[in-house]
Amino acid sequence: MFIDATGLDERAAYRLLISVIVPRPIAFVTTVNDAGLVNLAPFSFFNGISGDPPLVSIAIGRRGRERTKKDTLRNIESTREFVVNVATEELAESVNLSSGDYPPEVSEVDLAKLTAVASDRVKPPRLRESPINLECRLVEIHELGAGPTSLVIGEVLRFHVRDEILSEGVVDPAKLRPIARLGGDFYCRVRDLFEMKRPHVPRR
Ligand SMILES: Cc1cc2nc3c(=O)[nH]c(=O)nc-3n(C[C@H](O)[C@H](O)[C@H](O)COP(=O)(O)O)c2cc1C
Repeated sequence: MFIDATGLDERAAYRLLISVIVPRPIAFVTTVNDAGLVNLAPFSFFNGISGDPPLVSIAIGRRGRERTKKDTLRNIESTREFVVNVATEELAESVNLSSGDYPPEVSEVDLAKLTAVASDRVKPPRLRESPINLECRLVEIHELGAGPTSLVIGEVLRFHVRDEILSEGVVDPAKLRPIARLGGDFYCRVRDLFEMKRPHVPRR
């Protein structure tokens, strides 16, 4: 079977796409507005882009028929800073709770009973309950498509990694216990690991 994308309405295309690209990591993003109110929301159109400098991307769609900007996008546009907190099994309920369509004056950090601690290099705080926090400075925002979707690219200025999940300079996934997003309302745990060494091909 094939599905021609030109014949699909926006919702059908979105539902199909998020069931195809799985599992997706979840950035649990903290931002602040101009008055300093902390906002928290999950984003699974999230990925790493490069190591030098360390860059990450988050794609933020618009809300509802009115296509209003989400608080996270407004805050990043205005302060040019954000923190990516990695979503773990312990944070699953909070991820779901904080994705509700709350008015800007509601802080999802308080709602989810989480703890905001001061960041070192950026104004938005990081979440104490997340074992990894990436303090990011905005590099650029690309507006894409009719939605439009805002592709936010940020540079990681500081990595915070809890000591007990680090092993020889990298994060041990068995200790991190991240969650990831699938299609529909499904999530998965990262529990079934296997390892493969890449082939060594001598340079010609
Ligand atoms: C697991 C999960 C992943 C999500 N990923 C995205 C995403 O990648 N892009 C997006 O625009 N919305 C995404 N959402 C929806 C936003 O979290 C939701 O619109 C939220 O209310 C935005 O909050 P804000 O207005 O405080 O920024 C996701 C929701 C959940 C539960």
